[in-house]
Amino acid sequence: VPASDYESESAAISQGVVESNWAGYSGSGFVNYDNVVGSSVEYAVTAAQAGAHSLAFRFANGTTTDRPLSISANGGTPVTLSFPPTGAWTTWQTATTTLPLAAGTNKIRTVATTAVGGPNADKLSVAFSGPADTERP
Ligand code: GCU
Repeated sequence: VPASDYESESAAISQGVVESNWAGYSGSGFVNYDNVVGSSVEYAVTAAQAGAHSLAFRFANGTTTDRPLSISANGGTPVTLSFPPTGAWTTWQTATTTLPLAAGTNKIRTVATTAVGGPNADKLSVAFSGPADTERP
């Protein structure tokens, strides 16, 4: 199943800014979350079918401290995902979690949980990861 990509700079940003001063991002830049609890990026994701989806966040963290985000789909129970140091702001890695999505549009909300804020966020890649539908012809 191919992944669909959603650039952070095109998402709904609260307490963050779009920047492009560190190389290696996709699209036109990345989001620099403000260094506060509660800074957030919300992605509008379209799913072809309901079920479990992998959410792969491409990010950089040039500090020595984890920048965990609380991640939820459509206001559901959040999961906390670690965004550990990547070694440099130009070194991009991926952090992945799995959440159930509905068919159609989903709001994926990512919120900084500590005073250091979130990582620099490049993009979100979404892919269906639910059980194979063996009934499908
Ligand atoms: C530096 C860096 C930013 C980063 C910020 C932070 O200012 O240039 O890209 O977002 O640190 O710590 O959040």
